[in-house]
Amino acid sequence: MKFSSKLIESTNIEISNCTTIHELEKIRIKYLGKKGYITLEMKKLSVLKHQEKKEIACYLNHIKNHIQNILNIRKKKIYQDLLNVSVNKQKIDVTLLGRKILNGNLHPITMTIHFLKNFFFKLGLEFVSGPEIEDAYHNFDALNIDENHPSRSMHDTFWFDKSRLLRTQTSSMQVRIMKKKKLPIRCIVAGKVYRNDYDSTHTPMFHQMEGLIIDRNINLIQLKWIIQSLLREFFNNSVEIRFRNSYFPFTVPSMEVDIRSIQGEWLEVLGCGMVHPKVFKNLNINHLEYLGCAFGIGIERMAMLKYGISDIRSFFENDIRFLEQFK
Ligand code: DAH
Repeated sequence: MKFSSKLIESTNIEISNCTTIHELEKIRIKYLGKKGYITLEMKKLSVLKHQEKKEIACYLNHIKNHIQNILNIRKKKIYQDLLNVSVNKQKIDVTLLGRKILNGNLHPITMTIHFLKNFFFKLGLEFVSGPEIEDAYHNFDALNIDENHPSRSMHDTFWFDKSRLLRTQTSSMQVRIMKKKKLPIRCIVAGKVYRNDYDSTHTPMFHQMEGLIIDRNINLIQLKWIIQSLLREFFNNSVEIRFRNSYFPFTVPSMEVDIRSIQGEWLEVLGCGMVHPKVFKNLNINHLEYLGCAFGIGIERMAMLKYGISDIRSFFENDIRFLEQFK
């Protein structure tokens, strides 16, 4: 008993002198570890007689439990002290006013694309996307715009080399869709297109939405109905719409569609037409069996007209005062 009370006294002092978890751990190893004092004493028991063994084992267990207990108590105290120190360091001023959380909003171009997508989803069209780095075959040749075609030079193309370019129109996706999808086809594409042009109505990058519908009984009246319904839903029911005869190498007949602004001017918003038989031939689609209609919408143009924006460049300047207006 004497031996145990002395030991307890000295370990009490040792433990209470510890100020870190590391020091505590050293003491635990010293007494309770595999080669610690108590463990070694326990090992010696085997040579003792029964009664003596019982008594000493009882002492040793008593001391072991005691050491373990005061180690735990000290450990808690050290953690508590650490916590107090860190809490005192970072004083919290509960009277401070909170910071206002500002909600963001979608970019007007994104909003316009969402609107158009929703409209076409209701008609059962599927959304597909494709590469912005294209080749001349998809962007021009397959669309009946061969190398010497005047409209090819009108596109102000950014070329990488002789055949690779940044797509100048989402119509390139018409070719990819016709190559990949089974007939009938009902698809829309939205994405960035690039042309070397820069002023208040042109930026080198802008967005288009392309539509392509191919089936056995597609006609111009259906195309006109789709375009009219779209423009009425996007602007408002009373918007004045005009279909004008036009020319695109990949559609025949081709039309451009204008809407009348508040100032009374006619402004072009999209091009459309019936898929040209030559395009069908290029893609091995039987033009006697199938008919198709296609359209290409200028997204920025639609957004500018809807929101009364006069300079296309303001979409891409990231001026927060401009963007916040679309909340
Ligand atoms: N790709 C044409 C352009 O960028 C727009 C266009 C016109 C797309 C007629 C079409 C179409 O699908 O049928 O000017």
